[in-house]
Amino acid sequence: MWPKGWLPTRACPAKSNKHLKINPALNDLPVYQPGRPIEEVARELGLPAAGIIKLASNENPFGPSPLALAAMQKALAGVNLYPDGNAFYLKQKLAAKLGVEPANLILGNGSNEIIEFAGHALLGGGGATAIPDVVVSQYCFAVYPIVTKLFGANLITVPAKNYGHDLPAMLKAITPRTRIVFVANPNNPTGTRAPREEVIRFINEVPDDVLLVMDEAYIDFLNDPVDLSPLVHQNIRPNLILMRTFSKIYGLAGLRIGYGIGNPAFVAALEKIRQPFNLNLLAQTAALAALDDAEHVRKTRQNNFAGLEFFERAFRDLKLEFIPSAANFILVRVGNGQKIFEAIQKQGVIVRPMGDYQLPEWIRISIGTPQENERCLAALKTALK
Ligand SMILES: Cc1ncc(COP(=O)(O)O)c(C=O)c1O
Repeated sequence: MWPKGWLPTRACPAKSNKHLKINPALNDLPVYQPGRPIEEVARELGLPAAGIIKLASNENPFGPSPLALAAMQKALAGVNLYPDGNAFYLKQKLAAKLGVEPANLILGNGSNEIIEFAGHALLGGGGATAIPDVVVSQYCFAVYPIVTKLFGANLITVPAKNYGHDLPAMLKAITPRTRIVFVANPNNPTGTRAPREEVIRFINEVPDDVLLVMDEAYIDFLNDPVDLSPLVHQNIRPNLILMRTFSKIYGLAGLRIGYGIGNPAFVAALEKIRQPFNLNLLAQTAALAALDDAEHVRKTRQNNFAGLEFFERAFRDLKLEFIPSAANFILVRVGNGQKIFEAIQKQGVIVRPMGDYQLPEWIRISIGTPQENERCLAALKTALK
């Protein structure tokens, strides 16, 4: 209860905030729909959480790197102190590993935060004479359109080619109003990979005044990645930023840590946008240790190749259309994706329906351990009956 005399004297219509001048861009802003958490599904189905598996958010099925876990345990007692906002040691180590300078690195609370930084840097702020454009591909990662709309910019969606990026068409879609182009390679949710020569041509031809975000969240799952970092390090393409994450191969999605590799002057601009302590102490500690855990990375990558093969073979046998994937998930056409997703979920396996990505006939399955993959396939077969 309010103490006597504290009640507002002017009554406000209950629960109405219509007088607030809320950013109109929020009216039609889609809400990101993440993979469903295990605990939520357990509550809904009345099942123990331990009996449910999640193959819905492209996480590492082997868990975090054991080296990262041990390092975090040691660091726990220090969480009364603010972390190093500049993540000195992590930047040093990452820079040495990548062959770039610490000044090339911007760290984010997940690489999602870097996407938002790009929005602040290029789409926010007044003074623009025309509403800026952002160019993406059809079936792009859902956060690009969300950030674009959040900043009131125009989203230019270029039709996909064979479910992947049509880079020459994306180049044609760039106009003097374009500020950012997003390309995820490999792409989420389709798992497609753009051909090497097309990528190089694209990078060369994107105009200097357009930021090209090459989102490489899944690069660690490739056996022959193209290393674009020299283009940034040698300042050959100052309008290029590469985005990477510790969420996938390093198994640290719950800690939220990702990074961008960009031109030092652009990175310095992004540093002004970053909250002072956006990377918590445990995230920094775990990432530092995970970078040393070559065995965990090797095991994860190897399991992923085997898991992709397992599902591809199974889908061929079931005569289900699928998109060959270069990432740690695979898209398969099952008919009514939402219904099949629900039927699989009832059996304690969480996958991802693709209706939000305009692929309502498809589901996306993240690669799990061999046992998880078997269980998911059995659940899919039951659901299809
Ligand atoms: C293409 C792509 N980019 C970025 C991210 C964001 O990763 P995080 O914010 O966990 O680093 C994801 C996550 O699923 C992704 O698929």
